[in-house]
Amino acid sequence: MVKSVDLSVDIGPKLKLKNPVMNASGTFAYGEEFARFMDLGCLGAVVTKGLSLEPKCGNPTPRVAEAPSGMLNAIGLENVGLERFLEEKLPFLKRYDVPVIVNFFGASETEYARMAGRLDQTVVDALEMNVSCPNVKKGGIQFGRDPYTLASLVKVVRGQTSKPLIVKLSPLTSDIAEMARAAEEYGADALTCINTIPAMAVDEETLRPVLGNITGGLSGPAIKPVALKMVWETARAVKIPVIAAGGIACARDAVQFFLAGARACQIGTQALVEPFCFDPVIAGIEDYLKHHGFERLTDIVGALKV
Ligand SMILES: Cc1cc2nc3c(=O)[nH]c(=O)nc-3n(C[C@H](O)[C@H](O)[C@H](O)COP(=O)(O)O)c2cc1C
Repeated sequence: MVKSVDLSVDIGPKLKLKNPVMNASGTFAYGEEFARFMDLGCLGAVVTKGLSLEPKCGNPTPRVAEAPSGMLNAIGLENVGLERFLEEKLPFLKRYDVPVIVNFFGASETEYARMAGRLDQTVVDALEMNVSCPNVKKGGIQFGRDPYTLASLVKVVRGQTSKPLIVKLSPLTSDIAEMARAAEEYGADALTCINTIPAMAVDEETLRPVLGNITGGLSGPAIKPVALKMVWETARAVKIPVIAAGGIACARDAVQFFLAGARACQIGTQALVEPFCFDPVIAGIEDYLKHHGFERLTDIVGALKV
């Protein structure tokens, strides 16, 4: 058995993480509530709720529903807006020894570009651009479905920032490799796969949809096999790092994604089920590496035998 292992990973040339585990955007707000349960400094990075230029109040309630092996959400990207985040939330996150990744979106290319330009002037460590939210009419999936639209957006946003730019891809595409290559070619430093999968729930007693928005996004263990396939396809298509999201609930899940080619992972839905899950996942990855004789996390990235 190996005595000590190196869990650090680089996400592009400018973002080094002490370990590969982050929260996923939207299930962790701006970190304050979770700081009561855990040391935020244990994470490889903290990812914020998706931010827009102006505050957003989100979709009508109910916004969440349980599903077999997961959940549905249609929050509608409610957020405090960029300026309030910078003033009120970022100073709190900056108290911890952990890179802060800001997840953001816009309703148009111009809005995305303005977000990136403003974030570039701040102390945030990296940007995660959401082009994949299924629950809003504008600012989500319409930028993430077609490689030409995505390429154009990435190019414009890249021109506004020299900070690490991570593009969060949607599972709603017939060819995720093509989307990944488009983002890489036009300047993305890394990719996150995947966002939620469009879905719905029906209440047979009221004869109504369960969610106020009618449809929502499915997340949690139910989507893990889909996410694994998409991470694997993406990692084979590009040279830039891939960050996995989709149903990761324990260290074994995370390791499976590393083997499929991910360099880091995000935990979303499981953090709502079990807010203390981050420490055990990090420790479990370390144990796995020790027991299997690997000295570095990077030794298992893409090590799947096919
Ligand atoms: C309640 C909720 C809110 C979310 N909000 C965002 C968001 O603001 N921006 C974003 O890029 N993804 C958002 N997501 C998607 C997650 O970040 C993640 O990609 C997805 O849930 C899959 O991971 P999981 O199965 O571990 O939850 C949200 C997911 C949930 C469940």
